Amino acid sequence: MLRTHTCGELRESNSNEQVTLCGWVQRSRDKGGLMWTDLRDRYGITQLSFEEGSTPAEVLETARKLGREFVVKATGTVVERYSKNDNIPTGGIEIKVESLEILNGSKVPPFIIEDDTDGGEELRMKYRYLDLRRNAVRSKLQLRSKLAMAVRNYLTEQDFIEVETPVLIKSTPEGARDFVVPSRMNQGEFYALPQSPQTFKQLLMVSGFDRYFQIVKCFRDEDLRADRQPEFTQIDCEMSFVNQEDILNTFEGMTRHMFSAVRGVELGDFPHMTYADAMRKYGNDKPDIRFGMEFVELNELAQNKGFSIFDQAELVLGICAEGCAEYTRKQLDALTDYVKRPQIGAKGLVYVKCNTDGTFKSSVDKFYSQEDLKAWADKADAKAGDLILVLSGTTNETRKQMSELRLHMGKELGLRDKNTFQPLWVIDFPLLEWDEETKRFHAMHHPFTSPKAEDMALLDTDPGKVRANAYDLVINGVEIGGGSIRIHDRATQQLMFKHLGFTEDEAKAQFGFLMDAFEYGAPPHGGIAFGFDRLCAMFGGSDSIRDYIAFPKNTSGRDVMIDSPSTIDETQLKELGINLR
Ligand code: AMO
Repeated sequence: MLRTHTCGELRESNSNEQVTLCGWVQRSRDKGGLMWTDLRDRYGITQLSFEEGSTPAEVLETARKLGREFVVKATGTVVERYSKNDNIPTGGIEIKVESLEILNGSKVPPFIIEDDTDGGEELRMKYRYLDLRRNAVRSKLQLRSKLAMAVRNYLTEQDFIEVETPVLIKSTPEGARDFVVPSRMNQGEFYALPQSPQTFKQLLMVSGFDRYFQIVKCFRDEDLRADRQPEFTQIDCEMSFVNQEDILNTFEGMTRHMFSAVRGVELGDFPHMTYADAMRKYGNDKPDIRFGMEFVELNELAQNKGFSIFDQAELVLGICAEGCAEYTRKQLDALTDYVKRPQIGAKGLVYVKCNTDGTFKSSVDKFYSQEDLKAWADKADAKAGDLILVLSGTTNETRKQMSELRLHMGKELGLRDKNTFQPLWVIDFPLLEWDEETKRFHAMHHPFTSPKAEDMALLDTDPGKVRANAYDLVINGVEIGGGSIRIHDRATQQLMFKHLGFTEDEAKAQFGFLMDAFEYGAPPHGGIAFGFDRLCAMFGGSDSIRDYIAFPKNTSGRDVMIDSPSTIDETQLKELGINLR
């Protein structure tokens, strides 16, 4: 080793020891006769000191050449400091340097490598290797490493086998577009990168692996958001001879273990909520249930009183914001502007203030009596001092808009505390989803998900009503994982493809291998995949998964550091048999 200690470990108890440290120069202060340099590595910062008269002249000369981010090796004696720095663990000591070697110089970095940096996002991404030197960034990746270890330990303990599945495969439909890779040896043909290892993990069940997991990269060509990257990581799992409850229990156990081992948090209940209830009560299939503010349907009370907007609406929906009756005109206008933003798209917002004197003041007083408004308040469980917010329109749109407003109010009222973790299993998802664009049903989860036995008959008569054995794990309103009990027989799988609009030949060409496998003793099986990046971000209290990925892509799917994607040269294209013209 070039060093005897790291820059984070020396204390007063090491006084008088001769040590050698290696690291990067964070900053130097030269006070004429005295000079100090902060030396940094990933463990911490230790102060080096130089003094005219006692430090050897050639060492002083070298010290005066040091610039930010130079890599150096310093040998010297640990001494207690006169003025200690209580802000860092090594603040009680410094190293009286006796020999100093510059291992490598550095250009002036494009931004300051400290917790508070002056570098903008784009610049930090271009020099991500420097950004990663910053504590705040590196510690996020350390958290990720710890979480991965906790997962591996837990699942291995539970007899899961980690198996790697291929990356050059054929399309697995998870609802996004595939990234494709041209084949040189099979010109005109393409591999697809896996959107998930779904079909492989099912084949492993046919192979009798019984319990599989993999911490695995998945690739999806979809529009990017704060919680989406084109390549991301799943904790992918599958089990045989299980029912839905077994899966939910097993992965509730894994989730509890992660929170307890890595965050020291003991999670409370994991309630179950059907998809239908989630949509009705929260207008969202991933409700944040850290707070209440459940939807109240006001159709019966609000319609046929002469207010045509409500009369024409399919749904009149209210929420009760506790203690907000005092909202000013300005605050109410801001809420109205919020729901009218194009991203939300409401036409307007009706409010009812439940005044502390027992009266009501609403924006629709012209149409509703005090008794009418009291009936709304009773239905919404609103007390004196509360504010009722009402939206109306078509059912789906109104629910969606109200869901946004509810989350917004939750945030405004400080009800979405980052250090409170509230898990929720959303179950009984619909099997199929109507797609207006293609005028076809799509699998809501994926085509390998089994329908509920009791709903099978509806497949022919009312396919949109069929429920699936599919579930999501939601924590604090974030979809952390999703899975299902699978189809494990050829006939049902074939029927499913038929309902999804595949011809028999198309189904065979794409998924014949899986249906063939089902004819060789496929056990009943099911599984789940967790979004590992999302889990890390949640553990770290962040909304953006990018911070938890060492080398992420930007919102246009570009890696600005290596400048990718990029064009390839003519010869490479020719070899691949690709003619761009
Ligand atoms: P699903 O498509 O629900 O299921 O994905 C599982 C979880 O992966 C995370 N996730 C993402 N994270 C970051 N960026 C993305 N682009 C992205 N897309 C998804 C989410 C999601 O809940 N094969 C099935 C699982 C199964 O049925 O067992 C699957 O992939 O947290």
